[in-house]
Amino acid sequence: MIGDQTAVLGSLGSVPDLRDRLGLFLEVEGGREYVIRVPGSALSPLSNSDLAQLLNWMIRKFGPTQVSDRFVPFTAREVDQHRRPLVDIEEVREILMERISNHQDN
Ligand code: HEM
Repeated sequence: MIGDQTAVLGSLGSVPDLRDRLGLFLEVEGGREYVIRVPGSALSPLSNSDLAQLLNWMIRKFGPTQVSDRFVPFTAREVDQHRRPLVDIEEVREILMERISNHQDN
């Protein structure tokens, strides 16, 4: 059962919970590149086209709906342009979370 929970909820302190949050990355500078460049995305065995479709599905699935209703879908070309695994993930994620929180205050 723990495995099931991890798949749905994320894992506290390690794997992030995507619900109502994933789409927020797309609203800030650098966020589109980030979701392509996290290891789960960039290093997956998926083709650029499949990864684009998976990210589009994830964003529609997890929302938040205000974002997923209006976001510009990823294409294989955009994925190809940015698909280099991030090295300084934690640092980049922190900067993006800060941008997200400032964006929401406005
Ligand atoms: C095809 C499979 C996967 C895709 C498309 C994917 C996609 C993503 C995306 C879009 C993010 C950014 C969201 C955020 O930072 O809040 C993310 C972050 C993250 N994902 Fe995944 N993921 C995949 C598999 C996995 C797996 C199997 C794990 C570990 C069990 C994992 C662990 C993480 C972690 C820890 C982060 C936070 C950033 C980091 O420290 O790398 N992901 N993933």
